[in-house]
Amino acid sequence: MYDQVQRYNLFMPVPVTEHLHLQWPSQRAYQPKSRKMHPVVVPNVLLVGPPGAGKTLLARAMPGILPHMSIDEALDVTRIYSVADLLPSDVPLIRSRPFRAPHHTISHAGLVGGGNWPHPGEISLAHRGVLFLDELPEFGPRVLEVMRQPIEDKMVTISRAQGSLTFPANFQLVAAMNPCPCGYYGDPVKPCTCAMGMVTKYQKRISGPLLDRIDIHIEVPRVEYEKLSDQRMGEPSDVIQQRVEAARQIQRRRFAGEDEPGGADLHAATCNADMHLAEVRKYCILDETGSSLMKTAMQQLQLSARGYHRILKLARTIADLVGAEQIAPAHLAEALQYRPKMV
Ligand SMILES: Nc1ncnc2c1ncn2[C@@H]1O[C@H](COP(=O)(O)OP(=O)(O)OP(=O)(O)O)[C@@H](O)[C@H]1O
Ligand SMILES: [Mg+2]
Repeated sequence: MYDQVQRYNLFMPVPVTEHLHLQWPSQRAYQPKSRKMHPVVVPNVLLVGPPGAGKTLLARAMPGILPHMSIDEALDVTRIYSVADLLPSDVPLIRSRPFRAPHHTISHAGLVGGGNWPHPGEISLAHRGVLFLDELPEFGPRVLEVMRQPIEDKMVTISRAQGSLTFPANFQLVAAMNPCPCGYYGDPVKPCTCAMGMVTKYQKRISGPLLDRIDIHIEVPRVEYEKLSDQRMGEPSDVIQQRVEAARQIQRRRFAGEDEPGGADLHAATCNADMHLAEVRKYCILDETGSSLMKTAMQQLQLSARGYHRILKLARTIADLVGAEQIAPAHLAEALQYRPKMV
């Protein structure tokens, strides 16, 4: 099976987290050591740090902690691969979540889908899995902007003279980048050689609307010698996965009774990230302290309405990971501190 997967480049081989020497805050997001720390689940993630800090490595470990696919999800994914003619004849059903890592030279059509006879792009091939965009600023701005609508709608419609086709595109975006062209802006050891204008220009290649869709911004600092030479193993991926799976179970039970008005299957929520406004209002209720914290944060972080809803969903997930019924102010505070911080 592994050979087939490699042969068809369906999923990339991934390292397990136990071999990574992670440190706070990347450890906080990926490798919970105490009940207070949480792994990321479905939100869009941006990893920022100097060269060799382990961003690519960390992103590749992501599929190993994601929950198993349900039969419905597996059928959806298999259908897409079958339409794209990427399904090996001896694989009847794709059971592992896709991990797609297109190179930054990818075309617009390659990313979202297209062609005379429309075929699914990388965002659809990553449906129910991870779309990893390494070296994010190197992707052309136009290429990145076309993802804005599918990230919101979780599907993409391609129109042609003969008609239009809709492909599902409910993926988790994981992106990695250096903070500046030389890579060392903000590094405590190696000084950055870029002029401040260059740093801003580099970071501005990621537009505001795209940043607004990122829920978790993780700074990945350089790993020190003591950490790297430490023989102790980190927490293995499967242990983290069990915690993520438990949180997913809570979410599946939560949405089991919810019927989508209009019955659009593509849209039925199975996890917090899929929640619509009505569900956010119903399940993401803040107490009095939480509400006033949110009000202050809205003003200070100049949050958009989208940012507000995304933070509520993330806080709901953080609460689910510790099995809490209600979103406590601590869960909300944690969700807030992951908002993007660029210069
Ligand atoms: N946390 C870590 N634990 C163990 N090894 C690490 C860690 N971080 C980095 N490494 C080692 O450094 C190598 C390079 O890491 P990686 O390619 O992920 O860096 P990067 O942050 O993506 O750098 P760049 O910005 O240049 O792309 C890895 O292959 C691994 O050998
Ligand atoms: Mg890298």
